[in-house]
Amino acid sequence: MESNPERFVRPGVRQLVPYETKHMPECIKLDANENPFPWPVGMQETLFKGKPAFNRYPDGMGQELRTRIAKYTKTSPEGILIGNGSDELIQLILLTFGGLGKSLIIHPPTFGMYQIYARLTETTVVEVPLLNGLDLDTEQMLKAAQAPEAHVVVICNPNNPTGSQFPRDEILRLVRESGKIVVVDEAYAEFSEETLIPEIGNYPNLVIMRTFSKAFGMAGLRLGYLIGQPETISLINRVRPPFNVNSFSQKVGILALDYLEEYQNQIDQIKVETQKLQYALKLLPKVTVYPTRANFILFKPEDPDLWASELLKRGFLVRNMGELPILGKCLRISSGMPQENEEFIRAVKEISTRQS
Ligand SMILES: Cc1ncc(COP(=O)(O)O)c(C=O)c1O
Repeated sequence: MESNPERFVRPGVRQLVPYETKHMPECIKLDANENPFPWPVGMQETLFKGKPAFNRYPDGMGQELRTRIAKYTKTSPEGILIGNGSDELIQLILLTFGGLGKSLIIHPPTFGMYQIYARLTETTVVEVPLLNGLDLDTEQMLKAAQAPEAHVVVICNPNNPTGSQFPRDEILRLVRESGKIVVVDEAYAEFSEETLIPEIGNYPNLVIMRTFSKAFGMAGLRLGYLIGQPETISLINRVRPPFNVNSFSQKVGILALDYLEEYQNQIDQIKVETQKLQYALKLLPKVTVYPTRANFILFKPEDPDLWASELLKRGFLVRNMGELPILGKCLRISSGMPQENEEFIRAVKEISTRQS
């Protein structure tokens, strides 16, 4: 008997389109908000000095890593949960608090994975667009959060892709007045140098999400973490796969936290480079550049699709954001190495001159 596997697919999965990522190592990569610098000097050598027991399962509880993260964030290890990138953590949050008949409130334009994991967990998505495409609409978010089915609110701060930093008082108002689970995604907080971590002790419904993918240059190793009150974290820990973070990534995470000074130097350089890129883009005619507190810039040339393809022809991979609410078609670039940024600036000047 011939069987068609499609018949057995869950309804939520039927409409899903696989998430496609671009892998073009030959290009200058400005599309994924990574740290372009190599790891701090000595880190790689130290990593390979030990005798890792890769034949054994990892420490499922990630004891040492959680202890080191607690020290870095001035919190307690019991309030930390590690994940296979923050992508996995979004899924764990929705497996814990979302699901059929529950909703997640997001503020488009924002990071696309919230929607994707909502679909996978059959959680309804409620969109409260940013005011002018950039600012948090706290009143509308609070209104949306009043619905009994609204269980989780995600605030991305600084926001990807806009680069906006939302006022801490507004986020705390949402935490206080909604009473729902408020997740603040601080993937880029090392660049904005603003965080709500010190508020964790005040609010059991506040969960902060962090990653080693951006400032710590570990995007390829998939390591993220949540910070919350221990009771809240222990609820999410119920759905965490026992060995979700491999031994190698745990080891690198622990080691990276020994190099904070070196990473801070990189962060400072990335911030200067981002300002340089921003300044250069602002000088171009007919290009709108949005303010940023992260290591990336959202901008809108007259013909974003043409710019993306012209940049690709010149070897630069940028993120074509497509049509964003209110802002329309935009491109996003992250800061590359100083030399790459100079070449990028030359390229956009040339594209701009040829267009006018
Ligand atoms: C806002 C935001 N959160 C989370 C992530 C995912 O990070 P990770 O690599 O830890 O899964 C990204 C990656 O681009 C991001 O922009």
